[in-house]
Amino acid sequence: MIPKEIEMDYVRVIDKAELPQNKMIIVVVDGKEVLLANVDDSYYAIINKCTHAGGSLAQGVLEGSIVTCPRHGARFDVKTGKAVGEAKIGFIKMKVKDEESCMVKVEGTDIMVGIP
Ligand code: FES
Repeated sequence: MIPKEIEMDYVRVIDKAELPQNKMIIVVVDGKEVLLANVDDSYYAIINKCTHAGGSLAQGVLEGSIVTCPRHGARFDVKTGKAVGEAKIGFIKMKVKDEESCMVKVEGTDIMVGIP
């Protein structure tokens, strides 16, 4: 079987210098908005559209590898896309689906993102 990484097209999105440690940025890959995060100089990418109601995750808060959606507080791990916290509206809590994660690779100072 061919490793998944080889089947994927990567797109150069930014230079490493454009994304300081523990910050996020929105990049567009293949027409999709992707949240790219630098967590302690490792890079991770997930789709930027919150699985709850489409909030822009990159407008939220990044603590370690956990991003909190600015709309209703759902939390996702940018390393995996896994949902780790529910959305909350008033007193109502709602489970949310995991976010789609994207492959990231670094070549020299170029950060590349791949979408399967
Ligand atoms: S849109 Fe993200 S928590 Fe509701």
